[in-house]
Amino acid sequence: MGCLQNKQILVGVSGGIAAYKTPELVRRLRDRGAEVRVIMTSAAESFITSLSLQAVSGHPVHVAEMSADSESGMGHIDLARWADLILIAPTTANTMARLANGFGDELLTTVCLATSAPIALAPAMNQQMWSNAATQANLEKVKSIGMEVFGPGIGDQACGETGPGRMLEPDDLVACCEQLLTSLRQDGPLRGKHCLITAGPTVEHLDPVRAITNFSSGRMGYAIAAAANAAGADVTLVSGPVAIEAPANVTRISVKSAEEMRTAVLSKVADSDIFIGVAAVADYRPKSQATKKFKKNDDSMTVELVKNPDILSEVSAHKDRPFVVGFAAETDDLEKNALAKLKKKKLDMIAANKVGGSDSGFGDNPNALIVLTANGGRHELPMSDKNQLAQSLIALIGNNLPA
Ligand code: PMT
Repeated sequence: MGCLQNKQILVGVSGGIAAYKTPELVRRLRDRGAEVRVIMTSAAESFITSLSLQAVSGHPVHVAEMSADSESGMGHIDLARWADLILIAPTTANTMARLANGFGDELLTTVCLATSAPIALAPAMNQQMWSNAATQANLEKVKSIGMEVFGPGIGDQACGETGPGRMLEPDDLVACCEQLLTSLRQDGPLRGKHCLITAGPTVEHLDPVRAITNFSSGRMGYAIAAAANAAGADVTLVSGPVAIEAPANVTRISVKSAEEMRTAVLSKVADSDIFIGVAAVADYRPKSQATKKFKKNDDSMTVELVKNPDILSEVSAHKDRPFVVGFAAETDDLEKNALAKLKKKKLDMIAANKVGGSDSGFGDNPNALIVLTANGGRHELPMSDKNQLAQSLIALIGNNLPA
C-alpha cells in the first residue's frame, strides 16, 4: 500500500484556469487511497463548479466564505484538524500573496492559518506574474514559513505565452505529495523505532455462539497505529475483532481472546521500543467454554469467571521492557484512577480516557485524553477527531522517550 492510503487530504482550489485539472487531481489522489475534501475560493467558482468537485471527491465542497451553514457542518477548525495534508492546486499569485501575509479573509486561508498539517502549493499563473518581484518575494516568504511549493512547470500557457507558471500535471502532483509525506515520515519523532500497539476488544467465548466482549471499535488504537507509522515507526498492531481496515504499512496480527492477545504481544515485545496498550481487554473470561450451544432449560444461569492475564503489567515487567504507555478507560474519578494504574502497573505514561457518557470515547465519537507520566507530567489533549488526537499523543510519546 502506498503512503497516501487512508491519508486525509484537503485540496484547496483558487481562481485560475488550471482549476480545470483539479478534478483529475482529486481522482488520482483517491485512486491512491486518500480521502479528499475540497475548499474553493470565491474566485475559483468562476473557473469550475463545486458540483464537479463534489462528484469526484464524494463529499460536499466547502465554498469561499465562512458561514453559519458551513460552520454547522464541518467548520473551519474541524477541517484544519482533519487534514493530514493541505494541497492548494492551483495556487494563484493572489492566493500565494494572502498566504504569505497570514490573511484569514476566506475559508481556505483561514483553514491554512488554523492547521498544523503540512501545506503544499501548486502555483499556476502567467509567466510574467510568476517572475514579478512581488510574487518572487511571496514565494520566498511562504517557503520560509514552512510551506512546500510543487512546481510550477515551464511551457505553453493558456494566455498564449511560454515560460514558467504552468501548474504541474495531476500525476506529478500526486508524486510530490507522496514524496513529501515519505520525507516527513523519515524525519518523524519515532523514526527507526518499533512500536507495538494493541487495539479493539477481546472476545471471550461462553459457548460456540455467545461471548463476553465490549464496545471497543478499534478506532482509537488504529488511529494511533497510523500516527506512529506517519511519525516514522515500524508498527505492529495486535488487534481484537474489529470492522475496520488496518492502516497502510502497519503489520496487523488478528486475535480474539485476551490469552491470544497476550501470546501475540509477548512474541513481539523484546523487539519493540514502544508499547501502547489501547485494547479494551476483558478482565475476566468464563472458567470453561461449552463446546456446544447452551440450551435454555433453567430460569437462571450462573457463569463462573476467572481473571485474564494483565498484558500491560506483563509488558511492563518484561526483562526487555520497552517504553510502556497504558490507557485507562474510566467512568468516574478519571485522573485518580488513571494515576493509580500508572503506579500499580509501573508504566511510563498513561492516557486517561473518560468513557460511558454520551460523549463516550468509543467508536466514531471524538475523544479527549489526559496524559500522565511517571515523572509527574500532565498534559490535556482536548476533545478532537481520533486521528488528530492520535497525532498529539504520538508527538507527546516522541517527546518523552528516553534519549
Ligand atoms: O476502540 P475505540 O472504540 O476507539 O475505543 C477506544 C477505547 C475507549 C477502548 C480506548 O481509548 C481505551 O480507553 N482503551 C483502554 C480500555 C481498557 O481496557 O482500559 P482499562 O482501564 O480497563 O485497562 C487499563 C490498561 O490495561 C489498558 O491499557 C488495557 O489495554 C490494559 N489491560 C487491561 C486488562 C488486561 N487484562 N490486560 C491489559 O493489558
